[in-house]
Amino acid sequence: MRTELLEPRLCFSDLKPPQADFRSEVIEGLRRPQKTLSPKFFYDPEGCRLFEAICDLPEYYLTRTEIAILTEHADSIAQTLGRGGTLIELGSGNSRKVRLLLEALKPDVYMPVDIAGQHLLAASRELAVDHPWLNIHAACLDYSQRFELPVLPEGQRKTVFFPGSSIGNFEPVEAENLLRGIARCVQPDGGLLIGFDLKKDTAVLQAAYNDSAGVTAQFNLNLLRCINAGAAANFDLGRFRHHAFFNEPKGRIEMHLRSESHQRVVVADETFEFLDGESIHTENSYKYGIEEFRTLARHAGFEPGRCWRDRNGLFCVHYFGV
Ligand code: AVI
Repeated sequence: MRTELLEPRLCFSDLKPPQADFRSEVIEGLRRPQKTLSPKFFYDPEGCRLFEAICDLPEYYLTRTEIAILTEHADSIAQTLGRGGTLIELGSGNSRKVRLLLEALKPDVYMPVDIAGQHLLAASRELAVDHPWLNIHAACLDYSQRFELPVLPEGQRKTVFFPGSSIGNFEPVEAENLLRGIARCVQPDGGLLIGFDLKKDTAVLQAAYNDSAGVTAQFNLNLLRCINAGAAANFDLGRFRHHAFFNEPKGRIEMHLRSESHQRVVVADETFEFLDGESIHTENSYKYGIEEFRTLARHAGFEPGRCWRDRNGLFCVHYFGV
């Protein structure tokens, strides 16, 4: 781990796994009978830019709705969480949402955690300019794997903020493991403030992942560009198509990249064959009922606290204590 003090109140720790892992994970995923790529690889600088564009799309209600909940209920959220302490945000991206809570929460330390190092650093610098009183300790790491956070001040209450329904991108078993890891990390008196997307009308869900401007399609296809650049591959982006649908029995949106023809692709000296119509499964986005999510969190060692929802019941921000 490399830790640098960049400014008096801004520190950066790099705990990112080496590039070699990227290649081997990609190859391992493409060797499976259902070819699969991890959604964590979406977020190169272009993927981050496209994801931000998705968040502003009319069909993608998730971001807008969660922001409205956080804005409307910032004070009651602060009352529930308590002020001060350390606020750790997983998958902090541009740190847009935490800004809605910082003045109400006044944490002693804010620790944004993200896998996209450059993006994390730029967002942390901007946040430091806008909140000169705030101590920021940014940590670049892959929280989807078992992870250790940089050492935090002793005796401070820790709260993890995990917005954006990112928990929905984990398989339920992995989600439970991640929550268990979070519960361990916030012991003995901390908690978790988490945003998750609720089950709803299928048409609303499907539209959110098949936007009319085609931004989600670009975001999905950008994954192939990342693999071309980072794993010496020769995917032809024009020969794959975005495909997203709600898998009702599994309670999840599935995103795939479908091969438009029978073709071969080379990835780091290994050749992969794609049949016409064969897909690479690139993402799952699970949708939960509130009770269903509470059960998952209880299994991971959390006790449900308050929750806040929008009037239309689209999205939920929930507090859990340990
Ligand atoms: C980051 N994550 C919560 C998004 C989601 O909705 O599952 C990623 C995304 N994929 C397509 N659109 C947005």
